[in-house]
Amino acid sequence: MPKPSVLVAEELSPAGIALLEDDFDVRHVDGADRSALLPALSDVDALIVRSATKVDAEALAAAPRLQVVARAGVGLDNVDVDAATKAGVLVVNAPTSNIVSAAEQAINLLLASARNTAPAHQALIGGEWKRSKYTGVELYDKTVGVVGLGRIGVLVAQRLSAFGMKLIAYDPFVQPARAAQIGVEVVGLDELLERSDFITVHLPKNKDTLGLIGDEALAKVKPTVRIVNAARGGIVDEAALARAIKEGRVAGAGVDVFAKEPCTESPLFEFESVVVAPHLGASTHEAQEKAGTQVARSVRLALSGEFVPDA
Ligand code: MLT
Repeated sequence: MPKPSVLVAEELSPAGIALLEDDFDVRHVDGADRSALLPALSDVDALIVRSATKVDAEALAAAPRLQVVARAGVGLDNVDVDAATKAGVLVVNAPTSNIVSAAEQAINLLLASARNTAPAHQALIGGEWKRSKYTGVELYDKTVGVVGLGRIGVLVAQRLSAFGMKLIAYDPFVQPARAAQIGVEVVGLDELLERSDFITVHLPKNKDTLGLIGDEALAKVKPTVRIVNAARGGIVDEAALARAIKEGRVAGAGVDVFAKEPCTESPLFEFESVVVAPHLGASTHEAQEKAGTQVARSVRLALSGEFVPDA
C-alpha cells in the first residue's frame, strides 16, 4: 500500500521533517505559488503550512483526499477553518511554539525604534559617524500600552516590566485582577492611545481587529509615541501610520508584519524612524523546531486516525 502523503508548503524544521519521512511520502511545494500549490494538492492526505500559504475554499476543493491541515505556528488567519470543517478536514496548529520568539521580536523592534538602531547602522556602514542625529529615548519610566493581553502580550509585558516601564493594556477579554497580578493596569483603548509612550500590538487578525490602529486611533496618540506591530499585518493600518509619521503625529514604528505579504514596497519604507522586518517574529531556530515537531506529531496522529490533543 502506498504511504500517505504529506505536502509541506513552507519551510519546516528538519526535526519536523524527520518525524514524518519514514512513514509518509513527504513532498514539498512553494505554497505561495498558487499555480504550483493547487495541482500539488490533488492527491495529498495532509498539508503543512506557515503563514504564506492561503488555505482557502479553492485550495481545499483542490485537495479531495485531504484529512488534515497543520499550521506550523500560532495564528490560523490564512486557513479557512469553516470551509475545512465543512469539508471534514481537521485543522491543527502549534499555538505556543513561537510565543517567546514573537514577544522577543516585538521587544527587539521596540528597542530598535527607541534607539534608532537601523538608520544609525545604515549611516555608519555608509561611512557616517553621526551621534547626535541618532539620539534616542529610554524605556525606563515610560508607559507601554499592550494592545491584546493574550499569551504573547503577557510575555511582552513581563519582559518590559524588567525595563522599569509602566504597563497598561487594552483587552476586552482579560480579567483586570489577572492583569494586576503581572503589574498591568487594564484600560480602554482610547485611554491606552492617549497615555502610551510606546504601543505594542498583540492581537489576532479578524474583522474586529483589522484596521484597529488606523486614522481614528492615531488621532488620539501622543506625537512622541512609537508603535510596534509584530502580530498581524493590517491591524495597524500601514497607510494611516505612514501619514501620521509624515505629519509628526507619531515618532516612530517597528513593523514586522504587513497587510499584504510578501511586502517589498510600502509608504513606511521612506522613514528613518521606521524599522521593518519581513515577518520574522517566529523565525528563530527554537520556535521553528517547536512548531515543526508539534505539527509533525499532530499530522502523524491525525493520519493514523488517532485523537489529536491540543499542542
Ligand atoms: C505564526 O502565526 O505563528 C507565525 O506568523 C508563523 C510564521 O512565521 O509563518
